[in-house]
Amino acid sequence: MIDRLTVDRILDAANIVDVVSDFVTLRRAGANLKGLCPFHDDRTPSFMVSPSKNICKCFACGEGGTPVHFIMKHEQLTYPEALRYLAKKYHIEIHERELTDEEREQQSERESLFAVNQWALEWFQQQMYDTADGRAVGLAYFRQRGFRDDIIKKFQLGFCPDRRDDQWKAAKAAGFKEEHILTTGLVIRRDDGSVFDRFRNRVIFPIFTLSGKVVGFGGRVLAAATKGVNIKYQNSPESIIYSKKRELYGLYQARQAIVKADLCYLVEGYTDVMAMHQMGVENVVASSGTALTTEQIRTIHRFTDNITVIYDGDAAGIKASQRGIDMLLAEGMVVKLLLLPDGDDPDSFARKHTVEEYQRFLNEHQVDFLRFKTDLLLAEAKNDPILLSRLTDNIVQSIAVIPNDITRSLYVKDTAQTLGVDEKLLTKSVSDTRMRGTRRDVAESATVQQPQQQATSQLPASAESALPGRSEAEVSQSFLQKERLIVQMIVRHGEKIMCNVEDEEGKERPLTVVEYVAVTMADDGLQMRSPLHQRILSEAMEHICDEGFLASRYFINHPDLQLAKAATEMATDPETLSKIYSKNEELPAEEDKLLELMPRLMTDYKLAVVATQLERLRDAIRQPDTLRDKQRYMELMKQYQEVKQAQKVLARQAGDRVMM
Ligand code: CTP
Ligand code: MN
Repeated sequence: MIDRLTVDRILDAANIVDVVSDFVTLRRAGANLKGLCPFHDDRTPSFMVSPSKNICKCFACGEGGTPVHFIMKHEQLTYPEALRYLAKKYHIEIHERELTDEEREQQSERESLFAVNQWALEWFQQQMYDTADGRAVGLAYFRQRGFRDDIIKKFQLGFCPDRRDDQWKAAKAAGFKEEHILTTGLVIRRDDGSVFDRFRNRVIFPIFTLSGKVVGFGGRVLAAATKGVNIKYQNSPESIIYSKKRELYGLYQARQAIVKADLCYLVEGYTDVMAMHQMGVENVVASSGTALTTEQIRTIHRFTDNITVIYDGDAAGIKASQRGIDMLLAEGMVVKLLLLPDGDDPDSFARKHTVEEYQRFLNEHQVDFLRFKTDLLLAEAKNDPILLSRLTDNIVQSIAVIPNDITRSLYVKDTAQTLGVDEKLLTKSVSDTRMRGTRRDVAESATVQQPQQQATSQLPASAESALPGRSEAEVSQSFLQKERLIVQMIVRHGEKIMCNVEDEEGKERPLTVVEYVAVTMADDGLQMRSPLHQRILSEAMEHICDEGFLASRYFINHPDLQLAKAATEMATDPETLSKIYSKNEELPAEEDKLLELMPRLMTDYKLAVVATQLERLRDAIRQPDTLRDKQRYMELMKQYQEVKQAQKVLARQAGDRVMM
């Protein structure tokens, strides 16, 4: 690993004109230079090099980027190789970081472990499909459980034969180092030195990362009855590539469906995920039998705000998993719950129903989590005042963690009614609980000293949750463009200070552009619609406190090429101001106008959010079903009014600023 300082030195030294000139003859063209593009068969010079921005771009084929990108592409090098190339060119001595040996080892160890796992993935499948035992035992097991062959293939299931160390021998024969095979945990070494296959005589569920790499395996015993078998599932041990707390089973196969449906189902087990796919429901992941972690929640949140937790449990089970649900609420997710009848799990339930019945059941039985909890606890506490007050506390806790003000107040109202307690009292306990600080980040506690920013939450959240998921295509281009304008400001000016704000203790502290965006989004429970945008926002927040963090440099040089490319475009787009100021106004420098510009962009964005909400509500209201269902009609009309109101407030803000 090249140390960070050296990387920065290389990036600072690399001059785009120098670097490109080694391969392309360049001619001056105004402030820029031009040449024939080396990446496609170029007849007229389409390749532009901008010395001031230190980037290049072909206007015909779109290739280009920073000096590092140019070299990567031109010389077909990896990111670190390109850095080394440039270091050599500029005579920069490469400092490997202090811990290099260990780190380099770790790096190559990671790669080796992935390689072993990839090999094992294929081996398990060969054993299942190409051996008599595999077909008679492994494949037969899955088929007997009712899984279709295409589903078995989709999840790349496999089988490990009932032999002491076949896999161990095969892995060594394939050329893998013993220590690497041992670390993946495919085999277990006893104290006496003997080695045997961990997964022998089990069917295999491989676990993939988001990008499709195998981090580990789960292996299930074949016995249908698992009572008395002490370990039903054997899982790969924790290692530098596998942490049970981080992975979500099925995410790799579900990610697109989650975005499309704007909803993620959460189930417990491997087989539940598969059964749902077989029923045509592909937006589902499993926590693999452990408590949900914040990391897992944030991963899901990158794809959607909406989660429906499916329970095979009884009331007790639901109470036990309450913490997980409060965590979901605290992360700003909209949580619903679905209870399966008679202790069925999603897998066993699937076997008793047709696809249509199954999907209808899912659609009709999701209930809002807090509502569910209130009803459940109420039934229990009924006429016992002490129990009742305890249960109120319990619900207050859940409401208090919800980040969005409006969602919170709607829940307070609803709960006050159900429990028959005074709404004001309930509001007060919720805000007291919040004051005690369940989850307070800097962002939330900061009050911006600009009048127009003092009003925090402006959008009613109800409209989002009450409506069916919106498809990707419906998120309009113009909406995404508004979002992009904001992200563009993060890329260009993320680390710059916009204004000072007062924290809880009345101390002044500077507020950067990226923090401002994060606060304003969080106040309204908003998430960027585009995963790329969301990623830029969260990575910028992650690094904003790093010494010397420069958003543009960080993103333009990002090791993820796709992201770097997008960032480069954002960094070089014509000034955002030109889209806002009228033609005849003189353009001030963008960065001198952050305090004015940022709230404008945010208001515009929120207006666009509101506009999509209104459109969806209008559609929903016009549905024949809605027109027949008076209660739903009234409910939707009420939401429509609320959103309309929010729109007015926002529009007034937008208007006020024009007058300024
Ligand atoms: N699990 C585990 N180790 C165990 C038991 C369970 O890792 N000893 C995890 C697995 O990821 C499993 C999930 O917890 O998928 C849920 O457990 P369970 O409901 O018992 O298993 P199912 O997936 O329903 O498996 P099956 O239907 O085959 O019994
Ligand atoms: Mn099961």
